[in-house]
Amino acid sequence: MSVANTQKIDMATQMAVANEVVQSAPKVDYMEMEDVAAHKIFPDLFEPGTVKLKRRKHRHPDCIQSNPMYVPDPEMAKLALVWLMAPKQMLALGLQGHTGTGKTELAMYLADKLNLPLYIVKVHARMNPQDIEGSYVIDAQDGHAVTHKEYGPAAKAYKTGGILLLDEFDKASGELTSAMHLLVEGKPWPLEMFKETIMKHSQCYVIGTANTFGSGHDDRYITSNQMDQAFLSRFMWLETQYPDVVRESKILATFAPKLPISLRNDIIKLANAYRDAALGKNRDGDVDDPIQAIFSTRVVVAWAYYIQAFGLFRTLKQSLDCVFLKSVAEEEKSIVNDIAVKVFGDQLDKPLKELVSKK
Ligand SMILES: Nc1ncnc2c1ncn2[C@@H]1O[C@H](COP(=O)(O)OP(=O)(O)O)[C@@H](O)[C@H]1O
Ligand SMILES: [Mg+2]
Repeated sequence: MSVANTQKIDMATQMAVANEVVQSAPKVDYMEMEDVAAHKIFPDLFEPGTVKLKRRKHRHPDCIQSNPMYVPDPEMAKLALVWLMAPKQMLALGLQGHTGTGKTELAMYLADKLNLPLYIVKVHARMNPQDIEGSYVIDAQDGHAVTHKEYGPAAKAYKTGGILLLDEFDKASGELTSAMHLLVEGKPWPLEMFKETIMKHSQCYVIGTANTFGSGHDDRYITSNQMDQAFLSRFMWLETQYPDVVRESKILATFAPKLPISLRNDIIKLANAYRDAALGKNRDGDVDDPIQAIFSTRVVVAWAYYIQAFGLFRTLKQSLDCVFLKSVAEEEKSIVNDIAVKVFGDQLDKPLKELVSKK
């Protein structure tokens, strides 16, 4: 027998064996649940030996690893867990808060820790209902073109279970919002594209994030749209805030442990000085002449990262310029600069090397 023939037979045997293995492998029941000590999954939230939680025993291929450096707001995370663990979700969960307060991260964290598959729909103004339903796609099979259904992420989550994250859903057009009414309510959802109605899976959890409550005219979030009260009342709302000093210090300590602690503290001091100027001391918007620029946790973390990446010989001002100051509107530049100088003084123009050696 020729070498080529032996190889062919070998390949065929291997494929047959592989097929058999796949067919005989026990099918994973992703709905199988296990009781786990809450402290084991959420050590930041629960003391040992207090609460037990139910979670999926097996990780579905659509599970997504969350940010290992995420530090949850305990009360917010616990309330979201109360919603998730309730026998049924009367309302969808709405996370509302300023940009970079950790809305998306919270949803990803919960999905990951509970072994729930996560389907993210990044909502934008030009998105239409078909984008969340799915579409027909053409594939080649045995030399022929075949058409098959491909469910969009929302329909997939609705049909097969998992967390459906409607991210930044206040950007949705009126048409998309009406298409989402039945979906957020958990009612049978008619997919126009496939002329098919799908029912909500018992383990489908719909979470929406939004910067606004859909007021539609926010100077800071100009792409947010007005949403009707009927839609908004289908959510249980949790309002996310920027972390307090203790939690933000913890975030930076996890994220940039090598930066001197005094520098980490000053970064947080500056972040809060900017938030005071933008949102007021109580973060409730009660401030005269607020600045529009927002120094979120996203910027805090990014600045700490780039201070290190820019190296010992570049100044704090150089990295701050790149992660924040350059994006500030022209008319706010001078006030925003003044705030930085007020917090950092002449340290702003010193290279990292000097700050590190001082500690
Ligand atoms: N609690 C937190 N712990 C750690 N990092 C955080 C936290 N909140 C926000 N961040 C940082 O800010 C970034 C933006 O968070 P994200 O959840 O996307 O904000 P939002 O969705 O509210 O705009 C994250 O990628 C992360 O780097
Ligand atoms: Mg987000």
